[in-house]
Amino acid sequence: MEAYILDWLNILARWLHFIAGIAWIGSSFYFVWLDDHLQPAKDPADDAKGVGGELWSVHGGGFYHAQKYKVAPARLPATLHWFKWEAYATWLSGVFLLALIYWYGAEIYLIDRTVAELSSPAAVGIAIAVLAGGWIVYDLLCKSPLGKDEAALGGVLFVLVGILAWGLCQLYSGRGAYIHFGAVLGTIMVANVFFVIIPGQRKMVDAASRGEAPDPGPGIRAKQRSVHNTYFTLPVLFVMISNHYAMTYGHAYNWLILIAISLAGALIRIYFVARHKGHASPVPVIAAILILLAVAAAIAPGRRAVTGANKVDFSQLRTVIHERCTVCHSANPTHPAFPAAPGGVVLDNDQQILAEASRIHQQTVVVRAMPIGNLTQITEEERAIIAQWYQSSAATE
Ligand code: HEC
Repeated sequence: MEAYILDWLNILARWLHFIAGIAWIGSSFYFVWLDDHLQPAKDPADDAKGVGGELWSVHGGGFYHAQKYKVAPARLPATLHWFKWEAYATWLSGVFLLALIYWYGAEIYLIDRTVAELSSPAAVGIAIAVLAGGWIVYDLLCKSPLGKDEAALGGVLFVLVGILAWGLCQLYSGRGAYIHFGAVLGTIMVANVFFVIIPGQRKMVDAASRGEAPDPGPGIRAKQRSVHNTYFTLPVLFVMISNHYAMTYGHAYNWLILIAISLAGALIRIYFVARHKGHASPVPVIAAILILLAVAAAIAPGRRAVTGANKVDFSQLRTVIHERCTVCHSANPTHPAFPAAPGGVVLDNDQQILAEASRIHQQTVVVRAMPIGNLTQITEEERAIIAQWYQSSAATE
């Protein structure tokens, strides 16, 4: 019953998380696009009012006319819309989901004792410290003299983010490391909204409502943070889907793959932001495509030669599967965390095992994502049995 309730909490939190995430990233992409497409106001009267740029668009059967003020309108309107709850709701639901799956379920999803011998409290404690520490280090760097030099700051951040990816992969299971990497970046993005962008806007609104010209400082700082947020977006979105792809997080060089794909994501975003402005060089997007192709080529499964390829008896395979897999992968799993067979993969009888041959081989031998967290302690000899069986019989059938 407990696992069933957890499953429902999981569905509801995940649903909310991506609805809020779509609203947040969608509006943020829209405003970046809007900013980059503004044209000088045509009407001299608008110009006199302090309008710096305008944009016409048509959407959903209506015409829209957006105007951006150079600083602030002479008089603030009675209703001013803010964009912040999308970001907060994304983070709150995301942390809830992280805690539910990876912290409460640390033994299954976060800890991999072949990577590091961590207890659950240690693994979770480190995770919380990394989430908070990531923001603190980032924020101090932005506020330091380095923060004035965008290129130097970008370089240092890239190196630190790379160290983060590497470090997490030395501590946690691949999928646990990937999701925490995304959570650190996501936390920085939301903290940027909460601690810098919104307070900066509040100061501007306060000054404007007193009829004073707002200090440009907070606006400049907010802009820097929102530029960072835009470049973090694609890496974070990759991480959110990465747990479906054991070939990335399950690889021996999972940290390098994470860095490479994140870099490709940031480059793609750089290209799109520049393209909105109308003077995009194709170099970033070409570099991103080359990086993705290189990753795909580097992790392509090779044909591994089976040492001493003696024919494996099906009964040997059946024993391995029943000892190491069916506590979870059964019509009636006995593992307390799974009310139903995870991923819908049921391996109770020979037909089911044969039907899943290729995925069993992929998950157990190629990417070694199964048994998850190696909870059932499969041995290398048993993995070899699966490999030999697959290559000698299943693959040729
Ligand atoms: C402790 C529980 C547990 C054990 C033991 C376990 N698995 Fe899994 N398995 C899971 C979970 C959880 C998932 C779903 C992973 C996800 O969320 O992507 C899964 C998914 C799978 C999938 C589908 C993956 C995909 O994305 O296509 C296969 C195939 C699989 N397991 C095979 C095995 C095999 C073979 C064994 C035994 C050698 C095994 N599992 C042992 C929990 C387990």
